[in-house]
Amino acid sequence: MTNQNRTALITGASAGIGAAFARHLAAEGLNLLLVARRAERLQELANELQREHGIRCDVFAADLNDPTAPAAIMAFAEQKKIAVDVLINNAGLSGKTAFADTPWLTLAAEIQLMVTALTELCHRVLPGMRERGWGRIINLSSIAALSPPGASLLYTGIKSYVLNISQSLDMELKPQGINVTALCPGFTHSEFHDVMGTRDAASKLPNLLWQDAESVVREGWQAVMKGKPVCVPGAVNKLVAASIRPLPIALQYRLGDRLNPFKESP
Ligand SMILES: NC(=O)c1ccc[n+]([C@@H]2O[C@H](COP(=O)([O-])OP(=O)(O)OC[C@H]3O[C@@H](n4cnc5c(N)ncnc54)[C@H](OP(=O)(O)O)[C@@H]3O)[C@@H](O)[C@H]2O)c1
Repeated sequence: MTNQNRTALITGASAGIGAAFARHLAAEGLNLLLVARRAERLQELANELQREHGIRCDVFAADLNDPTAPAAIMAFAEQKKIAVDVLINNAGLSGKTAFADTPWLTLAAEIQLMVTALTELCHRVLPGMRERGWGRIINLSSIAALSPPGASLLYTGIKSYVLNISQSLDMELKPQGINVTALCPGFTHSEFHDVMGTRDAASKLPNLLWQDAESVVREGWQAVMKGKPVCVPGAVNKLVAASIRPLPIALQYRLGDRLNPFKESP
């Protein structure tokens, strides 16, 4: 089977890394099913990619905070006779207020979006992938999962879950032709910090720490095709992750407390 007969389902395709994945995979000849809340943006991107690459590109507007969304996406795919060969579980965001001061429903929505919906989509695409004996899944984790813990950030815990579950799934499924990769980017140009409300602090960070979304996607796609269960894109991120991992946990804790650029002053 060639890329031309394969379809990738990409969540969070209306902006940033997800839109970059859509452009990259369309250029490789894959057909696409794009998901996010902003339907207009998805449709504009779909029109562009169909025009430029002659691929089939369907869109499905869904709010992944809604627990029924993953089933609805797969029902849409079935109705359109789309077999999902590639899943890019990318939709995500981070809150920035202190855990204790954030309403539970806000925290629960983050867990629904980046833990439950992500895991459910993995589970729902597997029967088809196993039947066809081929599948590729990329789950967006973050370098946060390999870094010292940050105060307040539920995000760090969520992305650590994504890192761990992706490796477990890869171990289970690789013998059946299905590769799973946790993609762990560092600071990446996208709308992430606008949504989080940390654009000012983020723009003060040195350029060296930043990557463009296209580079992250290129490395992530190569990693899943090669069967690498974890991908930290970019030389600087690799260096940061490799130098922090061996440190004693107590030292990582202290570093996390001191180095968090988004920590609000008391
Ligand atoms: N940028 C970074 O520095 C960075 C670093 C490490 C990891 N990541 C991870 O990379 C992934 C992509 O982030 P990004 O940087 O590309 O951010 P972004 O530009 O803000 O894009 C986030 C995407 O997620 C979608 N999304 C958010 N909430 C959603 C919901 N409830 N239902 C459906 N879709 C939803 C958004 O679409 P709609 O608003 O249209 O729904 C958008 O398409 C995230 O998982 C993020 O945690 C980012």
